[in-house]
Amino acid sequence: MADIILGIESSCDDTSAAVIKDGYLLSNVIASQQVHKDFGGVVPELASRAHEKNIVPVVSQAIDKAGIKASDIDAIAFTRGPGLLGSLLVGTSFAKALAVSLDKPLVMVNHLQGHILASFIKQYDSENRQPSFPYLCLLVSGGNSQIVKVSSPLDFEILGQTIDDAVGEAFDKCSKMMGLGYPGGPVIDRLAKLGDPKKFTFAKPHIPGLDYSFSGVKTSLLYFVRDRMAEDPSFLENNKEDICASFQKTLIDILLDKLIKAARQTGIKEIAIGGGVSANSGLRERIVLEGKKRGWNTYLPEFKFTTDNAAMIAIAGYFHYLEGERTPLDVAPVSRMADF
Ligand code: KG4
Repeated sequence: MADIILGIESSCDDTSAAVIKDGYLLSNVIASQQVHKDFGGVVPELASRAHEKNIVPVVSQAIDKAGIKASDIDAIAFTRGPGLLGSLLVGTSFAKALAVSLDKPLVMVNHLQGHILASFIKQYDSENRQPSFPYLCLLVSGGNSQIVKVSSPLDFEILGQTIDDAVGEAFDKCSKMMGLGYPGGPVIDRLAKLGDPKKFTFAKPHIPGLDYSFSGVKTSLLYFVRDRMAEDPSFLENNKEDICASFQKTLIDILLDKLIKAARQTGIKEIAIGGGVSANSGLRERIVLEGKKRGWNTYLPEFKFTTDNAAMIAIAGYFHYLEGERTPLDVAPVSRMADF
């Protein structure tokens, strides 16, 4: 008999619900919150309130669009963390209530595992290429920058991670600093396409091993802009495309240096990426390019699976469900989660 999993995601500012059947996506509904735009970042209290408003219609739509009845669901997978506690509480409480009312099991999911396993979401109209194990996943988002070795859908090992800012934070903070808007990643990505990536250079970190650091490059950009603006107040306006292209290239170089090192050290040639920054067009092109050069098989998630979505929570929950994992009803969300 088919296994039908409902996934619920509410870790930050997207309320999402998805249904998968035996790993195939039937629906994936996302309500993104616009309320934060004027604040230059997510306001936790506003996010919780918006989740509270969105969760019932979003879950109902996901069930309707999937063409199933709520009673057909075999398990409810939800994001337990990491994320904003108030936001997580909405999804977790809703998942518990639904589990009780339908008398179905709950399965908790680590949000980061969802991003890492997004490559396994199968779609009826797609080629469904999937990495074979073990593979390396470059997990890049607003909160994380990690290289993870994935030996099975339940076996993760962090080989390297940022010791300060995440790469998404570097995009967001630098965009804000240049007055380009929030979230910064998509803005810088768009402007970078119009600029020369070799025009300017920014300091790269020298961190041993496979760890990352992004705070230095952020400061390097800050001082660069400040100094040039002191000489010419219109410098930023006249050069923003080249600055974005050069800054983005620096971030991608940093990411790739360690990923290449990790692939060499482990001998693994199956390479995936995940998380919000995996939507970056420059990073995607570069991964494919390096893959061709180095004989890697590369796996890029579809754009709709790069940012927060419940399809990835449903697929991760599906793997846990198949292993017989069940989460007790007294589970509480957590803003931080220990490594996988
Ligand atoms: O995974 P995500 O949706 O949220 C979490 O951090 O959990 O990632 C959001 C991050 C933000 O920092 C945003 O600026 C970045 O992903 N992002 C991008 C792009 N689209 C989103 N960064 C670079 N290029 C993009 N096209």
